[in-house]
Amino acid sequence: MDYHKELVLILDFGSQYTQLIARKVRELGVYCEIHPYNMEFQRIKSLQPRGIILSGGPSSVTERGAPICHKRIFSSNIPILGICYGLQLIAKLYNGTVAKSSKREYGKAHLFIDKNNSLLQGIRNGDIVWMSHQDRVLKMPSGFETLARTENSPHAVIASKNAPIYGVQFHPEVHHTPKGRVILKNFLFAICGVKGVFSPKSFVDYSLEKIQKHVGNHRVMCALSGGVDSSVVAVLMHKAIGKNLYCVFVNNGLLRKNEEKEVMVIFRSKLRMNLKYVDAKKRFLNALKGVVDPEKKRKIIGHLFIRIFEEESRRIGNLTYLAQGTLYPDVIESTSFKGPSATIKTHHNVGGLPEKMKFTLLEPLRELFKDEVRVVGKELGIPDAIIYRQPFPGPGLAVRIIGEVNEKRLQILKEADDIVRQEIEKKEHFKHLWQSFAVLLPVKTVGVMGDERTYANVIALRIVESRDAMTADWARIPYGVLDRTARRIINEVPDINRVVYDISSKPPSTIEWE
Ligand code: XMP
Repeated sequence: MDYHKELVLILDFGSQYTQLIARKVRELGVYCEIHPYNMEFQRIKSLQPRGIILSGGPSSVTERGAPICHKRIFSSNIPILGICYGLQLIAKLYNGTVAKSSKREYGKAHLFIDKNNSLLQGIRNGDIVWMSHQDRVLKMPSGFETLARTENSPHAVIASKNAPIYGVQFHPEVHHTPKGRVILKNFLFAICGVKGVFSPKSFVDYSLEKIQKHVGNHRVMCALSGGVDSSVVAVLMHKAIGKNLYCVFVNNGLLRKNEEKEVMVIFRSKLRMNLKYVDAKKRFLNALKGVVDPEKKRKIIGHLFIRIFEEESRRIGNLTYLAQGTLYPDVIESTSFKGPSATIKTHHNVGGLPEKMKFTLLEPLRELFKDEVRVVGKELGIPDAIIYRQPFPGPGLAVRIIGEVNEKRLQILKEADDIVRQEIEKKEHFKHLWQSFAVLLPVKTVGVMGDERTYANVIALRIVESRDAMTADWARIPYGVLDRTARRIINEVPDINRVVYDISSKPPSTIEWE
């Protein structure tokens, strides 16, 4: 069954948890999409959603101009669940009274059930729910009844008596509401009546069919970087259209040690893909000669990549499509309501689509979150070495060599970085880390080796924990591991006599040094 037939819409009122709601719904096997709160009713209707979730948000329904969704959804008989702001909006639209409470209710609360309902199946009196609101429902909206309360919210769960419309004051999507998953599941399965057919396999089956139909016998080009997203795109496309997929891997010389070899072995030898290897090391090094400004480096690398990509596309000829690893968060960011919670964006992706190339874009992963891409990658048989690879910036080691990039400095950094990979990234114990790498600094310091004075380079270790790269903290790596890594770098890498550990968080620092 096509999982789109069980679509649940999430109308976004700007909550910092909106994406989390989507991920929780999808974890239950139900495909959902996030759209702006004011989505046109005709468009909603045309998508035939099986349910609608109204997210929380930073606004107050008591204020003028507070965001409102299209009212016709409430008479459409589509099941609706309002969360926090969503509940308050339902209350207001049905002539209830919502007022600012003097006390903000934040954190854990106990839920007490007033009336049994399929939404609360499996929920017990006293179960913990997580609150984060100031407004609350004082007078119940007409035609609604209270299903449950907490100490500070007398109407913490409400339901319409005449239509499948529900509201919860707390956040079932956060893990601080231990049974939140049960409530979401009840809404989806018992109330919306879906079966939960969204899975990595159903995604792959659907995508293969769609790509084959769409692309037919045309040729598709794909830039493979060896990162998770482009790898999953490439393998998916390859499964769908085989030899009509032309993958290009550009070795810019700024990759981690042996990375190009690993990528070639996996995609060419193991997965038997049509993969063109372009050795452009010299061109990139030449273009970077004398450049120290980080943004200039990025621009030069980005432009050169595009130029090489264009050359290759001309060489292949007759290309109609370009397959790209756009993910769902990029799609949402470009459409959805931006509340104050809108996050600081990560920056600058190298290798954007060259406008003058007359490709039509294919974005087979645009429905997926990053963790879903990984699961789909596994379903496609891509090795863990690729699927769990740490994020790596497009401009590569060029932004980890502070100052000028040249062959010698690249060599030093590659060796030092490789030791970090062996000692940290590749160790099971450190799999949870977001990134761990070496940075080559543009200073020399004095040291002593044997009886000799040295005057050599400094390596900084950057090892961070993060959920999404928006914020990060330096990892509390055991001293023993740091000690061993530093000793190995100093002993094994020529021209390094000092290693320092970066203990700055993001913000105010960034993860990369440039
Ligand atoms: P910062 O340094 O901004 O990095 O804290 C956040 C995340 O983004 C990666 N990063 C980049 N990725 N092109 C990329 O594709 C870039 O120019 C770039 N700069 C930083 C970085 O590795 C981290 O994961």
